[in-house]
Amino acid sequence: MRLLIKNIAHIYSANTAEKFGSILDKENAQIIIEDGLIKDIQNNSENINSNDYDRIVDARSGVVLPGFVDAHTHPVFWHTREDEFIMRIQGKSYEEIAEAGGGIRNSVRKFRQADYDSIKLVTKSRIARFAEYGTTTIEAKSGYGLSLVDEMRSLQIINEINAEQPIEMVPTFLGAHEIPDEYRNQREAYLDLLINEMIPAVKEKELAKYCDVFCEQGVFTVDESRRILKAANAYGLKSRIHADELSSFGGAELAGEIKAVSADHLVKISEQGIRALAENNVIPILLPGTTFFLGKNDYAPARKLIQAGCEIALATDFNPGSSATQNMQLIWTISAIKLGLLPQEILWATTIIPARSLGLAERIGSIEPGKQADLIILDIPNLNYLPYFYGMNHVSKTLKKGEIIYERA
Ligand code: NIG
Ligand code: FE
Repeated sequence: MRLLIKNIAHIYSANTAEKFGSILDKENAQIIIEDGLIKDIQNNSENINSNDYDRIVDARSGVVLPGFVDAHTHPVFWHTREDEFIMRIQGKSYEEIAEAGGGIRNSVRKFRQADYDSIKLVTKSRIARFAEYGTTTIEAKSGYGLSLVDEMRSLQIINEINAEQPIEMVPTFLGAHEIPDEYRNQREAYLDLLINEMIPAVKEKELAKYCDVFCEQGVFTVDESRRILKAANAYGLKSRIHADELSSFGGAELAGEIKAVSADHLVKISEQGIRALAENNVIPILLPGTTFFLGKNDYAPARKLIQAGCEIALATDFNPGSSATQNMQLIWTISAIKLGLLPQEILWATTIIPARSLGLAERIGSIEPGKQADLIILDIPNLNYLPYFYGMNHVSKTLKKGEIIYERA
């Protein structure tokens, strides 16, 4: 199978031979794809014999980027929470709603009542929409089940959908998303369930690659998070952590201590936390869409993290409570305006760095010969235009492993 994408005004990609933010900009180009891999990148003027190709795609003087890699999503949920969104608009905070029994626990109650096939169907239709907005790989967390059977159902759904459609999904076990209703007065019993039953079951069925914990005031303490993540480590699950989102809580310091793969959110990260991440090669995954959607004014210190030597990633945090979007292009705009990041930096942070955080950077995340042809074609004249002309979907085609998986009508 040979495919040619011709008439590209600019190909932009992280240039992995260079440092964070330094990109390749190839003008007037064409890309040859063979058997799902990038075979060659040429000048548009190079002569081609159309008989050599099974398909020729005209980029119409648009831009080609690597498909986005969204390394923090919670896509397996049942009902949505627009009612809580309205409560927030009227002045209640996310924390107040959670303390009153709403929030994650609200989602958990509804998830447990829904049948497997219905949850799977609605989740699968959500996953298809990632392609529409240019995302070709996601990390997907469980975390709305919070019982042995319901967490297994959630991970099983992720694994099944991963096998049935083109978007790659990397599963993360997030049984430590919250303490469910029936364990509110017996935290230790829930930790016991997580450590001695759920984690071994996840491992036995090979349902996840990572383990995550919501380490936060009112959710899991630093000590509890350490116990859970170390137990998961012993079963071969590497760590990701929801850290320092709502308060400066020590999550980033813990991420450094246990050499987590990523520490996510980090709105309230301390100076010590920043050093801990930089010194231990923990990837900060910033989620500015969540800060925006929660109506807060403090954003994660992206520039400080970069200056400390960290290579950052950006993700949607797609979930029904604190960030109801799957659109990475919107994250580009919020990151530019609220984190002060330049398009070249955002390109790294939405492609190669999140790919690295998922252990996939050898195969995806940049446009180089030999890499998987996960590409998007956008109707824009240049890279700066992407965050600038905002709230729009600029993607005209999405390719996964060299196959067109989304095409604008
Ligand atoms: O990343 N922080 C914890 N989990 C999600 C919120 C989930 C929810 O509200 O349903 C987050 O923001
Ligand atoms: Fe999250």
